[in-house]
Amino acid sequence: MKVLGIESSCDETSASVVCDGSEPNNRILSNVINSQIQLHAKYGGVIPEYAARSHVDAIDRVINAALEKANTTLNEIDAIAATTGPGLIGGLLVGAVCAKTIAVVKNKPFMAINHLEGHLLTSRLCYDVSFPFLLLLTSGGHFIFAEVLGIGNYRILGETLDDAAGECFDKVAKMLGFEYPGGPAIQKYAEFGNPDRFQFTIPLQKRAGCDASFSGIKTAAKLHIESIKDITDQDKCDIAASFQKTVVKFITKQIKKAYDMTTSNPKSVVVAGGVAANLALRESLLAFSEKHNLQFFAPPLNLCSDNAAMISWTAIERIKAGYPFSDLNSKTRPRWPITEI
Ligand code: KG4
Ligand code: ZN
Repeated sequence: MKVLGIESSCDETSASVVCDGSEPNNRILSNVINSQIQLHAKYGGVIPEYAARSHVDAIDRVINAALEKANTTLNEIDAIAATTGPGLIGGLLVGAVCAKTIAVVKNKPFMAINHLEGHLLTSRLCYDVSFPFLLLLTSGGHFIFAEVLGIGNYRILGETLDDAAGECFDKVAKMLGFEYPGGPAIQKYAEFGNPDRFQFTIPLQKRAGCDASFSGIKTAAKLHIESIKDITDQDKCDIAASFQKTVVKFITKQIKKAYDMTTSNPKSVVVAGGVAANLALRESLLAFSEKHNLQFFAPPLNLCSDNAAMISWTAIERIKAGYPFSDLNSKTRPRWPITEI
């Protein structure tokens, strides 16, 4: 089975052909990504209207490139999948309408895919990961601990009460005058900083459960920045390092609480989403997993952020699990929790 997937929920236009081969290494036949980073960088964040227009401009070219790279044609594709939520409505509509149109013209089945499910199944595309597993999904818009029991069977253990971790990285980076997107910039500058110079309080330590909160850490970073008169590059690196260390320490404390809340005896920990590319976080979650005798899986760095391979793969997983194809009238959903898939 070969599936063409389309992803356009935020600031990447992506198309990919993935097959259901038994060897994880050979499944991705193509994964073409047109990033809009240059377009949004000067505004320090994604401008939804510009994003939608850029998706319109890029999508035909990206799909053709994905088919060409996979050495295939639409006639040989078994199903067309697209992200239909959650995300920015303009971009979602571009990808969904395009995928549905191809499905009609080529008489192929269409599969509407939830972007978060795409992230959370990426490790199963790349490695042999079996259910159940403990999931941390951490991206620009979401922060969720969940127990993944099977395809479409997700039990949320905790969520952020305010900002997502990626959003917090982006906002603190903006305050420091770093380039967009902020997560990779903070990681880069933190390498040259002293992580013990600035004090941050770890949030929610007296609260039961594994919910998270990042807005207090963000405010503390703002106060540290404002307390320095003529801020130097070294000060910025020290703030980035202290901030990153706090976020990683906090997430690692919360994942322990999430693990204690699981009931299915998971044997592995999976991290997914853009922030999963953070090397300090990966290292800390690996140490946590080893300490508790759990296997640890993180997607390859290029598959942590948004891409269409995860969308094609999720369609394959859903088809194999016996879920029906989607109606061509199915709606795009700016909000779409994983418990409602
Ligand atoms: O999953 P993603 O590509 O898009 C969403 O679905 O939101 O995640 C993007 C987020 C951004 O907030 C970005 O700053 C963050 O992931 N990110 C990182 C790193 N790479 C990307 N955060 C921390 N460290 C990184 N290395
Ligand atoms: Zn994403």
